[in-house]
Amino acid sequence: GTEQTSWMPTLGRPVMRHKQYHHHHYRSLISQKHAPTMMPHLEAAENDYFTNNPPPKDIKANITLAREFVGRHADDGRRVVLVTSGGTTVPLESQTVRYIDNFSAGTRGATSAEYFLEHGYAVIFLHRQFSLLPYSRHYSHNTRSFLDFMKEDNGRVVVDEQHQDEMLRVLRQYDEVKRAGKLLILSFITITEYLWDLREVAKLMQPLGPRAMFYLAAAVSDFFVPHDRMVEHKIQSSEEFSQSAGSNNGKPPAARTEGRSLIIDLEPVPKFLKQLVDGWAPEGMIVSFKLETDPSMLVKKAQYSLEKYAHHLVIGNLLATRKWEVVFVSAMEGEKWIRVPRHRRTKSFSGVESLVGAADLQNHESGRSLVADASVPH
Ligand code: PMT
Repeated sequence: GTEQTSWMPTLGRPVMRHKQYHHHHYRSLISQKHAPTMMPHLEAAENDYFTNNPPPKDIKANITLAREFVGRHADDGRRVVLVTSGGTTVPLESQTVRYIDNFSAGTRGATSAEYFLEHGYAVIFLHRQFSLLPYSRHYSHNTRSFLDFMKEDNGRVVVDEQHQDEMLRVLRQYDEVKRAGKLLILSFITITEYLWDLREVAKLMQPLGPRAMFYLAAAVSDFFVPHDRMVEHKIQSSEEFSQSAGSNNGKPPAARTEGRSLIIDLEPVPKFLKQLVDGWAPEGMIVSFKLETDPSMLVKKAQYSLEKYAHHLVIGNLLATRKWEVVFVSAMEGEKWIRVPRHRRTKSFSGVESLVGAADLQNHESGRSLVADASVPH
């Protein structure tokens, strides 16, 4: 039968689990410290954040869309992945003129979303507004304009001959995904919008159990300006026009001018991966990314993240080489590099995603392997 007994160290007692819960069991083996329920101090930090930083205007609309989407695919027994993509911003003013940004064009997220769709997943694509989108990414944000793919033919606009085959292929995939309603696109701009969307969508995905995956490729701010320390209006560069200090609640504003300098005092963003793993998505498979610039830090930091959050997989990448190589770090398989062979590293090549894609992740329900034979010779 499919029922198996597995020892759940966090619960301290043997429990009956369906086979597909194996990855869950494995997660508990990584870290025996954390019970699958949320710990009180985490709950407090979470509540503080969401109490003090109000939801985005479109949160209700996003919840409605996500509820319908998840419900429909749950009924069909389909796997659903939440792909996050693009960088979050930290606004310095409520009426925002200036903000701090996190680097991410959205290539990783948009490309991976296409491969997940190809492998039968339904995809919720939570992305930074105007960052790359699945399918249309092939024709946007280029050095070329999309108009360069077109030409005039007897008073009508058509696709240029040399792009016909490629665009037909992309268009067919896109139409199929649209027809089947397998792609939901949501967007964020700020860190707070991102975190609200992530939390609400994750909670809606709970009924999917282990058929839910989280693929967190977005570049998330580590420091931010809390709502109650944000000034309302554009920060003035000239002292004569500077607002008299004092933001909401009489707290010192996080940004102020001193002489001719701008002083910004940022606070840490709580580590929400912890909440996601333990509270919002206790049964889902969670894949996070780690971006570094110093090669000697990458694997160490990825391992640290895996141990700290006790989720399934950390995919490490370096800013300079992220399109050609990534390292998978998991408790099950240790450290595993995936590299695009040198001769394929051309401009038109879509990147390491075509080697990794979803195929390597989708075995998680069987608990056998997170990384299939995906590595290619260097
Ligand atoms: O979009 P591209 O141009 O293609 O680039 C892709 C990419 C390099 C952005 C992508 O592959 C990548 O590495 N994304 C993650 C970058 C990142 O934010 O790393 P981090 O070290 O800030 O965060 C690591 C993890 O901690 C993330 O899963 C994040 O969800 C989590 N985190 C971060 C901040 C925070 N306050 N709480 C968190 O839980």
